[in-house]
Amino acid sequence: MASLAPSLHQMLRPRFALSLTSPSSSFSLLGSRHRLVLHHLFASSSQTSASLSSTSTTRDAEEEKQGLEVIDVNPPRGTRDFPPEEMRLRNWLFQNFREVSGVLAFEEVDFPVLESESLFIRKAGEEITQQLYNFEDKGGRRVVLRPEITPSLARLVIKQGKSVSLPLKWFTIGQCWRYERMTRGRRREHYQWNMDIFGVSKVRAEAELIHAIVLLFERLGITSLDVGIRVSSRKVLQSVLEMHNIPEHLFTQVCVVVDKLGKITREEIEKELISVGVSSEAINGIIEVLSIKSLSKLEEVLGSEREAVADLKKLFSLAEHYGYSQWISFDASVVRGLAYYTGIVFEAFDREGKLRAICGGGRYDRLLSTFGSDDISACGFGFGDAVIIELLKEKGLLPDLVRQVDDIVFPLDSELEGPASMVVSSLRKKGRSVDLIEDKRLKWVFKHVERINAERLILVGNSEWQRGMVRVKILSTREEYDVSVDELV
Ligand code: HAM
Repeated sequence: MASLAPSLHQMLRPRFALSLTSPSSSFSLLGSRHRLVLHHLFASSSQTSASLSSTSTTRDAEEEKQGLEVIDVNPPRGTRDFPPEEMRLRNWLFQNFREVSGVLAFEEVDFPVLESESLFIRKAGEEITQQLYNFEDKGGRRVVLRPEITPSLARLVIKQGKSVSLPLKWFTIGQCWRYERMTRGRRREHYQWNMDIFGVSKVRAEAELIHAIVLLFERLGITSLDVGIRVSSRKVLQSVLEMHNIPEHLFTQVCVVVDKLGKITREEIEKELISVGVSSEAINGIIEVLSIKSLSKLEEVLGSEREAVADLKKLFSLAEHYGYSQWISFDASVVRGLAYYTGIVFEAFDREGKLRAICGGGRYDRLLSTFGSDDISACGFGFGDAVIIELLKEKGLLPDLVRQVDDIVFPLDSELEGPASMVVSSLRKKGRSVDLIEDKRLKWVFKHVERINAERLILVGNSEWQRGMVRVKILSTREEYDVSVDELV
């Protein structure tokens, strides 16, 4: 049934419905609404018929009369199908994520997409908590489709308890769900590559994570002229709050509000900060510090004793040694919107400024205690699959990924399906990727082999088979010869 849909798609015309009815099934693809109508159970006609109706009202009435069940062929808004070519691209990207993680000696972990809602209930007013896909399951439990993976990681670290040997370096690739306003590269479902380190309090952890991000970009052909990584520390803001005697418990809320700078007006930010309990004098101080773009200026304003300054200086010095300093820059306005970050925060952006953040992360040393456990220092990042694909498209860096089939086997006579099956079986046992084609004309098979770029075409013909041979055509060289099945492999 699904294979019929694409060809029918080409027949779509606005305001017309085409429906084919057979005893077992029927399809109706409607121009402007792209609907597929299925009715297995209710079809009454024994003949295939095609009918066109020019108004949806008549059509709806007809469908209702016939008991048709109408489904939308599009996936839910903001979500994606992955047809083969998209899937090849996704696998290629994930393979790069995995290889970079391996190069940094991280281990892969995984979690359920469905999590307990309580893991994501935070009171700082973050956007993410307002975008939850949350509901009650049939057992009355409050659950969510996770919007991010960090709380699940924390949950597993807590669950493993004392048995876990630190430092722990984990990576994961998983689907996340956020009921977002959709923009380019932002969807309601996306995959995120996460790398996280637990048990390293030194800035080395951040330096390692940024190294991973840079290695990934380099693999994909992206240079530091295309992309930069802005770095700051939440301790900068913490210092400013201390300087203005603002109580510590307001810190998280202030971070969440300040992250909206540039997204909403300054007046709105000020209003929100005042409602959180920040004085207007402090607001001016905060906004002034957030405009700083150089470490020396920051040092001048905060003094060299501040942890924020020491951490950032250390990170920039390590970046020199790793050899990626051209990728990173200090920008005090980077605060990030998630409540749990406590120290260095960073995000990668395209230098042309066309897209949203490519990835982002930071230190979150106090997340575990919010779940009632002892804290362990932690640091990590999330890297989505959607923005990076948009960037690769922009830069003309999308790879040309072809289907990987080694051999096509084609029996020239339907009576040779047994020998053809033997050939296929022995090739597959040797690990070759083999497709058996039947009931097609030879001309179609030649074209197909070219189209999918198979290495060899193996023809099983009567006279060759009687001699224990098959005919081989090598696509790249156009060579053609007979060989025994053993030699084939
Ligand atoms: P985040 O900044 O919310 O951080 O998301 C990280 C990345 O996920 C973004 O930079 C973007 O690439 C991608 N992303 C987020 N939302 C969407 C969306 N709606 N559509 C497409 N891509 C999206 C976190 O999620 C943190 N948990 C990251 C982290 C891990 N921090 C420490 N460890």
